[in-house]
Amino acid sequence: MRVEHVDFWYGDKHALKDVSLDIYRNEVTALIGPSGCGKTTLLRCLNRSNDIIPNVRMEGRILLDGEDIYRPEIDPPLLRRRFGWIAQKPNPFPWSIRTNVIYGAKIKGLVTNRREGDELMEKCLHAVGMWDEVKDRLRSPGTDLSGGQQQRLCIARAIATEPEVLLMDEPCSALDPGATALIENLVDELCKDYTIVIVTHNMQQAARISQRAAFFHLGTLVEVGDTKDIFVRPKTIRCSDFVSGRYG
Ligand SMILES: Nc1ncnc2c1ncn2[C@@H]1O[C@H](COP(=O)(O)OP(=O)(O)OP(=O)(O)O)[C@@H](O)[C@H]1O
Ligand SMILES: [Mg+2]
Repeated sequence: MRVEHVDFWYGDKHALKDVSLDIYRNEVTALIGPSGCGKTTLLRCLNRSNDIIPNVRMEGRILLDGEDIYRPEIDPPLLRRRFGWIAQKPNPFPWSIRTNVIYGAKIKGLVTNRREGDELMEKCLHAVGMWDEVKDRLRSPGTDLSGGQQQRLCIARAIATEPEVLLMDEPCSALDPGATALIENLVDELCKDYTIVIVTHNMQQAARISQRAAFFHLGTLVEVGDTKDIFVRPKTIRCSDFVSGRYG
């Protein structure tokens, strides 16, 4: 994806200022920066989920595979289906584990019968490392799982719809260290098949799992580059202070 000179306003609030950024296929790009700097706003611009907020305005262009996703001909609900969204707080549907995984894929027409549904469910639960944990309780509600399992279920649900890009907004912030480690390993695996953009407040996590990192401050993209460079050789004092934990 390519973000070109994007400005974004909520009413008078100028939340993103001339942001330009490339997001590469099969890489993990981490968005980092202090609270309120515009990370979630940018993530939501990428799949046009800001469109549904009243009184917002965007300038600039965002390209997916070279195509401007804000062109008038683009149908936002169809566009959004090309993305998976993993929220901060796991949000499984109050239905069975099985239905959770295949619901979106069914809507998209990716499964048309029970056998295909079972195959897809098993494949996606394997992909998130959960098959053995839940194979004997596929009919029980997704909401009965532990927080970490719920988040992996949400990732299984997202990948079942075959998205091109996975957008994750602080996916581990509600999880304990063990569950966080499982999600981090999963992100590492998933980037072989998907392009991932992840917002995180955890600098060790950003350093561990991303190949590129973008540091924001007050709506401005201050630095972007290889994660190693951002963490080891930041070019600005602001970024250096932030990644070393001196502020933010
Ligand atoms: N719906 C909204 N209406 C008005 N202002 C908003 C709205 N959403 C976000 N903002 C403002 O836009 C700015 C950027 O917010 P955003 O949520 O993108 O920050 P963030 O970097 O994700 O922060 P955090 O790390 O706390 O999640 C903030 O000043 C925020 O108050
Ligand atoms: Mg946010």
